[in-house]
Amino acid sequence: MTDRERVQTDEAKGPPETDPRIEGEKHPVARMIGLGVLASLVGIAITLLIDWFPEDASSSAGQIDTLYDVLLICSVPVFVLVMTIAIYSVVRFRAKPGDMGDGPPIHGNTRLEVIWVTIPFLMVTALAVYGWIVLDDIEAKQQDEMVVRVTGQQFTWSFEYPAEDKLKTRELVLPVDRPVDFRIRTNDVIHSFWVPQFRLKSDAVPGLTTSIRVTPNKEGRYEVVCAELCGLGHSTMRQFVRVVPESEFDSWISEQQEAAGGGGGGEGEPAEEQGGGEEQAAGSAGEQIFTSAGCAGCHALAAAGSDADVGPDLGQLSQANERYVRESIVDPGAEIAEGFEDGVMPANFGEELSQEEIDALVKYLLESQG
Ligand code: CUA
Repeated sequence: MTDRERVQTDEAKGPPETDPRIEGEKHPVARMIGLGVLASLVGIAITLLIDWFPEDASSSAGQIDTLYDVLLICSVPVFVLVMTIAIYSVVRFRAKPGDMGDGPPIHGNTRLEVIWVTIPFLMVTALAVYGWIVLDDIEAKQQDEMVVRVTGQQFTWSFEYPAEDKLKTRELVLPVDRPVDFRIRTNDVIHSFWVPQFRLKSDAVPGLTTSIRVTPNKEGRYEVVCAELCGLGHSTMRQFVRVVPESEFDSWISEQQEAAGGGGGGEGEPAEEQGGGEEQAAGSAGEQIFTSAGCAGCHALAAAGSDADVGPDLGQLSQANERYVRESIVDPGAEIAEGFEDGVMPANFGEELSQEEIDALVKYLLESQG
C-alpha cells in the first residue's frame, strides 16, 4: 500500500481507532480527563486557600469577593484542563526515538468541537450576566448619599465636600455606614483612585468625571492609593481615608471649616492634631498649604514630617531666598536644582494657589530651613 492509498483508506474510515503508541492502554482519554479533574480540584482548593483580599470595609466588599471566588473556581479548571491535556499528550504520545514518520492525518471531530465551543460560551455568558448583576447592584443610587469630589494631581489627591460649603481637604474622612458617591477628576494626567479595603477603583481621566459609589461599613484608617503610573512621584501618591462615627465626622467637618476660614491670617489656632511646638504655630497656615497643595507628596521637609524624595529637600534649599522660593513654586522650570529634572513638578501652582497662600507658603518654607 502506498502512502497515498493509506491516507485515503484512513479518511474513509475516519480517525484510526488504535494508534500503535497507545496500544494496550484501555482509555487514554478517560485517564486524561480523570487526571484533569483531580488537578482542577487541587488547583481550586489552593486558590481558595490563598488570602487574596485585604480587610473588607465596605458594604459591597462581600459581593465582590464572592464574584472573584466564582471567577477563580471557573477559570482554574479551564487552565488546568488545557495544561493537563497538553502535558499528558506531550509525555504520553511522544514519538519513539528514530520515528521520523508523520502522525495519523486526523481531520476534525464534530462532537469535540461542539463541546469546546458550547461549554466556554455558556460559562462566559453566565459570568458576564452574574458580573453585570453585581455591578448594577453595587452602583445603584442610594438614599442619603453624600457626594465627595476627588481630584487627582501629580502627585496628590484632594477632596471636596460640596454639601459642606465646598470644604476642600487633603485627608479623606467619611462617616461610617453612609453611602458615598465619589466624583473623580484629574488636573493633569490619568490617575486611578483606589481604596483596596473598599474594593473600589476608578480611573481619573482628563476631561471626564467618573463616578463610583461605596458605603464604608467599618471604622478605621485605610490607604488611598494611586493605581495608574502617572509620573515620577506615582509611588508617593498615597494618602489616607478615615472612616469614623457620624458625630466624629460632623466635628471634623466643623474643625476643618474653622481652620479653612481662619487659615488665611495664619494667627488662628495651630493646625489640627499636629501637636507642634511654638515654632510651628507661626507657620501653621503655610504648613497647612504645604500638605493640602500636595507638596509633601514629592518633597521632604523635616518640619512637616515629610520624607518624599521625588523633588529637592525643601528643608535644605540651595538658595534660601524669597525670590528663588517664590519663583520655584510658580515657575518650577526657571531654575532646576542640581540632580533634578525639568518638567516633573506641575507648573500650575501659580493658578491653583492664591497670592496670600503663596506668601504664607514661601514664609513657611524659609522658616523651615535647617
Ligand atoms: Cu497618580 Cu499614579
